[in-house]
Amino acid sequence: MFAEYGPASVLEVADVPEPHAGPGQIRVAVRASGVAPHDCALRAGLFRDVMPIRLPHVPGVDAAGVVDEVGAGVTDVRPGDAVFGIVDLADPGQLGGAGAEYAVLSAWAPKPDALSWEQAGGAAANVETATRALDRLKVDTGTTLLIEGAAGGVGTVAVQLAVARGATVIGTASAHNHEFLVGLGAEPTTYGPGLGERVRAMTAQGVDLALDCVGSGSLPDLVDLAGGPDRVVTIADMNAAEYGVHLTRSAGPAADPQALEGLVTAVTLARQGRFTVPIAAAFTLENAAEAHRLSETGHARGKIVLTH
Ligand SMILES: NC(=O)c1ccc[n+]([C@@H]2O[C@H](COP(=O)([O-])OP(=O)(O)OC[C@H]3O[C@@H](n4cnc5c(N)ncnc54)[C@H](OP(=O)(O)O)[C@@H]3O)[C@@H](O)[C@H]2O)c1
Repeated sequence: MFAEYGPASVLEVADVPEPHAGPGQIRVAVRASGVAPHDCALRAGLFRDVMPIRLPHVPGVDAAGVVDEVGAGVTDVRPGDAVFGIVDLADPGQLGGAGAEYAVLSAWAPKPDALSWEQAGGAAANVETATRALDRLKVDTGTTLLIEGAAGGVGTVAVQLAVARGATVIGTASAHNHEFLVGLGAEPTTYGPGLGERVRAMTAQGVDLALDCVGSGSLPDLVDLAGGPDRVVTIADMNAAEYGVHLTRSAGPAADPQALEGLVTAVTLARQGRFTVPIAAAFTLENAAEAHRLSETGHARGKIVLTH
């Protein structure tokens, strides 16, 4: 948790009041939780004006664990079940966060045996985000999709979910991550100057759609390649409106039925051996500051997780 905004060193392991499951929620004894750029930005105080949080705050929006409390109206799980899912940070009844001994989930699915605790713990938020973006783009069989930032937490999930929909995926990453992207089912290329020429050389028909998972300023190139701003979605570029591009944001797991649909799809694909969560690195809770520092490099390959 952190009691004040600041650098990664403000993170500490400390006692906080136990959260409890409200109606439609469950509580899990957490086995692993995800670390994301959003957690670092929140900790650094970058969102203090737009998303005020109560301090102390427990960071983390997704987790996997064993159900130990079931809220009113929940009928699909029982104490003892292994699940993974999403915390609703906007829930005023909670101190936050997945990076704790217990976490309250607002959307969940059964943990498939095919995913380890670490993989399941870092899966849910990125599955929700990637599903929301791919749905918005209407990615389907026969689509050629360009994913900017394909080697990151969201990108690795988006590549696999798009391939499972029958899309051809071109993904950008640093050269040392290209073989890794091939393993996920994408055709790799590097990002940065000359992207348009490189992508056009890879595909005779051009790309139909583009998903920006980075926010590095490449939207004009993506719009040009895909053939219009309505064919591009970003999850990370705050200047999207300037280019007529849609910036997708989560409405929160409780408000968003897609969150659950995405998790169920990921479970099915994982059981079929068609979906995994590449782990960039796993840290203990005591070393959460190191996990945040790695995230802040902007070059983690796959998902950073905490083991509990
Ligand atoms: N709107 C939403 O709902 C939503 C949800 C989740 C995340 N986000 C945002 O989406 C962004 C990505 O999140 P994430 O968790 O995927 O981050 P991440 O895991 O930290 O992303 C790291 C990856 O970004 C790649 N990368 C760095 N600079 C790049 C560039 N200029 N072009 C292409 N790739 C580049 C790196 O690839 P190389 O190492 O190969 O260079 C690395 O694999 C963050 O800004 C996050 O806050 C938004």
